[in-house]
Amino acid sequence: MIIAVDGPLASGKGTIARTLAAKFALPYLDTGSLYRATALAVLDAGDDPADAKAAVRAAQGLKADAIDESRIRTADAGAAASKVAVIPEVREALYKVQRDFAYQPGGAILDGRDIGTVICPDADVKLFVVADAETRARRRWMELQAKGDTISYEEMLSQTLERDARDAQRSDAPMQAAEDATLLDTTSLSIDAAVAAAIAIVEKRQKA
Ligand code: C5P
Repeated sequence: MIIAVDGPLASGKGTIARTLAAKFALPYLDTGSLYRATALAVLDAGDDPADAKAAVRAAQGLKADAIDESRIRTADAGAAASKVAVIPEVREALYKVQRDFAYQPGGAILDGRDIGTVICPDADVKLFVVADAETRARRRWMELQAKGDTISYEEMLSQTLERDARDAQRSDAPMQAAEDATLLDTTSLSIDAAVAAAIAIVEKRQKA
């Protein structure tokens, strides 16, 4: 079984995908980490994430199994990730590792922005997880604050809106729900309720 979980920043897709992976015993790939690690490599080299040459070089040299989780989870890495993600050659360089992961024997679960539309258009289950922007900005701001990040809520909200727009409006693989995706709005759901709703959607698809 292949499960695709897409949606904007802090919609709850990561938590949902991780829980589904444990529940259905599927290997899990957070594809945003590939874009974040690419962006971080560009920043580490002193280059601009919007510089296509530098970003493509970083994506082609990315070692997906050696990503430093503690460094990619910052607001700056997320913002830079959405800049490298606009570049078609970067997406192309990261395509194979995602496809190979998805189509391993037994299936897999992947979360991102274009899993149901581009990476796994024939996934068995597709979820598109949404929540209103203020709720998402507050969630991510609280997470980052707990980690010592000094970003303000206002800045987080503005980054959220900017990132939504960049992800949804890019010409290559824009963030959008696949036609056959099930929409899950987590705005007023607790984590437990959101996860329970996602499990119910997968189980219903399995029975169908
Ligand atoms: O999900 P996360 O916030 O970690 O993703 C960081 C950025 O990477 C997103 O804003 C998006 O621009 C990009 N991304 C993407 N396609 C994916 C996953 C992430 O373009 N499948």
